[in-house]
Amino acid sequence: MNTMRTQLSFAPLAGIETELLAVLAADTQTAKGSEAKPAPVLLTADPAVQAAAAAVLSSGEFKAGANETLLLHAPAALAARRLLLIGLGKQAKVTVNSVRNAAGTAVRFTKPRGIRELLFALPEFAPSAPETTSGVTETASGKTGPEALSAARTARAAVEGAFVGDFDPDTYRSERKDQSVESFTVAVSAEADKTALEATFAEAIIIGESQNFARSLVNEPGNKLTPTILGERAARMAAEVGLGCEVYSTEKLHELKMGAFWSVSQGSAEPPALIVLRYEPEGAATGDGRPVLGLVGKGITFDSGGISLKPGADMDKMKYDMAGGAAMIGAMRAIALLKPRVRVLAVVCAAENMPDGKAQKPGDVQTAMPFSPEKPGKTIEIINTDAEGRLVLADGLTYARQLGATHLIDAATLTGACVVALGMVNAGAFANDDAIWAKFDAALATSGEKFWRLPLGEEYAEQIKSEIGDIKNTGGRWGGAITAAEFLRVFVEETPWIHLDIAGLAWVEDAKPYIAKGPSGVAVRSILEWVRNYAE
Ligand code: BES
Ligand code: MN
Ligand code: ZN
Repeated sequence: MNTMRTQLSFAPLAGIETELLAVLAADTQTAKGSEAKPAPVLLTADPAVQAAAAAVLSSGEFKAGANETLLLHAPAALAARRLLLIGLGKQAKVTVNSVRNAAGTAVRFTKPRGIRELLFALPEFAPSAPETTSGVTETASGKTGPEALSAARTARAAVEGAFVGDFDPDTYRSERKDQSVESFTVAVSAEADKTALEATFAEAIIIGESQNFARSLVNEPGNKLTPTILGERAARMAAEVGLGCEVYSTEKLHELKMGAFWSVSQGSAEPPALIVLRYEPEGAATGDGRPVLGLVGKGITFDSGGISLKPGADMDKMKYDMAGGAAMIGAMRAIALLKPRVRVLAVVCAAENMPDGKAQKPGDVQTAMPFSPEKPGKTIEIINTDAEGRLVLADGLTYARQLGATHLIDAATLTGACVVALGMVNAGAFANDDAIWAKFDAALATSGEKFWRLPLGEEYAEQIKSEIGDIKNTGGRWGGAITAAEFLRVFVEETPWIHLDIAGLAWVEDAKPYIAKGPSGVAVRSILEWVRNYAE
């Protein structure tokens, strides 16, 4: 686990001794067209910092574009050895997420240069700026405008962003080059509400560490993280943070009649793992009308496609097909430490999808787990063994309901079709109920993650009707992300439910200034905030 030391400082900026002081700047230019020249302004009131940056700001060398950086050595009248300017982009468009990314950029700038200490100044806005017409506007990625950028919100975002930036996937390199930043300090003006800040700050460390914990799981290759090992990791984490945890395998799948989940694992020499995590806060009321939140994750530790084998190109990527399960395990870690007053349970269905003499075949019919012993489970015609995620989730969702979940959320790297639809910018989201969606949408404003709601509907459900059984596991070429969601909907029945298809965002393909190429940990923060939105 990450060891970055993180602290707050309320001392005047200019006097703080540090290897590197990072300060933010925004572009205040509002004119359009060829006349428009960037007008970068520093978002720090300290006159000594202002003076140190004045020449380079007026020179036009630094435009304060989003995540643009410029380093100055030995800044005059500052105790800091270096001054790093980081752009937030156009001031009117600055959100708390811009600050999150800037903190990541600061850390990723610092790490490879062998600098181990970083002081990050929270942005301060002059009373007249930024210009907003109605004071505050709200977007999916968060509020914009000065009130939205309160010290508590930006401090939290800065710490989260620093943890995101600090993560590198090079765990198996003999010589790890980009050693971690040892000390990350957030500098806040002395007028800020110290108590409130310290509380959100402590939360942000937990959230950042939990997101990186999920990323460390996703980063593991298939041979180092089998379903059994994923179960062990979850159990170890649960013991550390005080969660209930049970990890089952083949026998339990048979006992529960999890025919869909088992059908995926039957072609692998590795046994499946059914991972259950429970968070039962003291004093949280139970029973009538009280929510029990069920988190269900796809944990395919390697997806070869099975008998419907995937092509060789990029097949190695399919080690991250457990990212949904990892997101749930990471979110449960944060929940255990942040202690919202609401009951939460997680079910992660881990298996390897492999071709073998014992593997299931296209055309096979499987029987999913029955919700109650009186009712038989739904029958599923397997059209394509590569549509395995929905099979393990089908039984996972049923099991979560059987364990008492009243509200469900699942996360899965479920379909390539979702990536075709939304690219690598937005993850897909579905909901069968507007009230549960409202809670999730509100969570996005805090998490800063991008999810785009896609439709469900009877007409799509038509596409997965089977001639031989109840449903089939693929719905044809068109609307593939939606027909996959309709498949899951069969198993949630009337329970309020959200489905997150994170196939396009779980792995960062192109490194950004604020995040390494590799596992992103997407959905951990949003799921956590969604859970907190149910707390009493
Ligand atoms: N794990 C894949 C989906 C995926 C694709 C994740 C790309 C990440 C990146 C999933 O199990 C799968 O193979 N889905 C198939 C479904 C199809 C056979 C209906 C797909 O999307 O092609
Ligand atoms: Mn697959
Ligand atoms: Zn898969």
